[in-house]
Amino acid sequence: MSNTATIEIGDKKYEFPVIEGTENELAIDISTLRASTKVITIDPGFKNTGSCESAITFLDGEKGILRYRGYSIEELADKGSFLEVCYLLIFGELPTQEQLAKFHKDIKAESIVDEDMKRILDGFPKSAHPMGVLASLTNALVAFNPSSVNVNSEEDMYKAIVKILGKFPVLVAWTMRKKASLPLNYGNTSLGYVENIHKMMFHKPNEEYAVDPKVIEALDKLLILHADHEQNCSTSTVRIVGSAHTGLFASISAGISALWGPLHGGANQAVIEMLETIKADGGDTSKFILKAKDKEDPFRLMGFGHRVYKNFDPRAKIIKKAADNVLGDLGIDDPVLDIAKRLEKVALEDDYFKSRNLYPNVDFYSGIIYRALGIPTDMFTVMFALGRLPGWIAQWREMRLNKEPIGRPRQIYTGYTYREFKEIDKR
Ligand code: ACO
Repeated sequence: MSNTATIEIGDKKYEFPVIEGTENELAIDISTLRASTKVITIDPGFKNTGSCESAITFLDGEKGILRYRGYSIEELADKGSFLEVCYLLIFGELPTQEQLAKFHKDIKAESIVDEDMKRILDGFPKSAHPMGVLASLTNALVAFNPSSVNVNSEEDMYKAIVKILGKFPVLVAWTMRKKASLPLNYGNTSLGYVENIHKMMFHKPNEEYAVDPKVIEALDKLLILHADHEQNCSTSTVRIVGSAHTGLFASISAGISALWGPLHGGANQAVIEMLETIKADGGDTSKFILKAKDKEDPFRLMGFGHRVYKNFDPRAKIIKKAADNVLGDLGIDDPVLDIAKRLEKVALEDDYFKSRNLYPNVDFYSGIIYRALGIPTDMFTVMFALGRLPGWIAQWREMRLNKEPIGRPRQIYTGYTYREFKEIDKR
């Protein structure tokens, strides 16, 4: 394969370098295109546009491969812990026992949130969606931790990273507890990272805290599966906001807002709501398949389809199995799991879905597990954000260390050409 590409515009030919990734992906580097030709490319939704070079996550949408720093998602979900995966994504290598212990200790030392943050939380109505509250609280962390990060100092960068990993779970727990009218508490730093998150979310003030280890195992696995997914909508948001040299916490707050949308992370809440609607309607899945196929009907099969995966989403495979196991282990019989399986079966045999390569994505079964773990429906996307946090951090850090320029796409203008201003009485 030639390492240049030729673009012909009118009677002129221009050559551009072709770059190759470690997994043999190819890209035409058009960074000098406009300067040499006065022409730009247009690609709404960035379906064919690489925004950066990245060494964090590899995914092959055709083969259904997902790897963090070279390690397969299947192995990480099976043998790794969420905290190890955080370290791996952010710093590039699996930690040794000493490195992991130090990382955890440093996170724990930063897991207190300023008491005044509670006053901000008090200002929200109970009806507020937790994702809006979490985005606001994450941004408010900037005001309470104002020191800017010198990205050229490894120490500064490390401090910001352990700070957000320490405080973010507290914000997640408080967001949920406030809505449930429970006291805002802290966990117990003698517990593991994920177990402590669970305690902060669920511990009742008048009960001893006890949890089935299977619950923590399931939660850990879900967080690992959501930890990074290369340049998706929220991660691209974090990188582009950070490219203006906006700080880590504010960039992550922007990522949370992007994740909230139902076409992205918000789909996990939408899936359960859809499955509940199907159940309440009598459970006829084919009726909803017809609705999803009807172009006049805005209904989409939530949890189906993916911009990149065109064969299967490897995370969905792991989650489907985990949903069966968790519900079995906890002795829960959730009728929506059967509806989900029936819906998947009908869709996978239907030409509409087959021809468009629409398969269940990570969100199709995750809500069923979250529900079995006692997590309220409107907190599902917050749980996704908790899992995606290390990915956002890793991507922000990489973008700053690579000294990427400010993100600033161009456009093709389609509005009026010059018009003369008319005085108001002449319009
Ligand atoms: N139900 C019905 N039809 C669908 C669905 C769906 N879930 N998804 C895509 N299609 C159809 C589209 O109508 C379109 O049909 P057409 O070619 O006849 O016009 C075709 O499939 C291609 O769809 P696009 O929207 O162009 O695909 P795109 O790659 O832009 O979108 C997306 C991907 C947003 C995930 C889409 O499949 C979708 O809306 N899915 C439902 C929401 C969802 O589950 N989102 C979570 C994604 S995973 C994540 O963010 C963690």
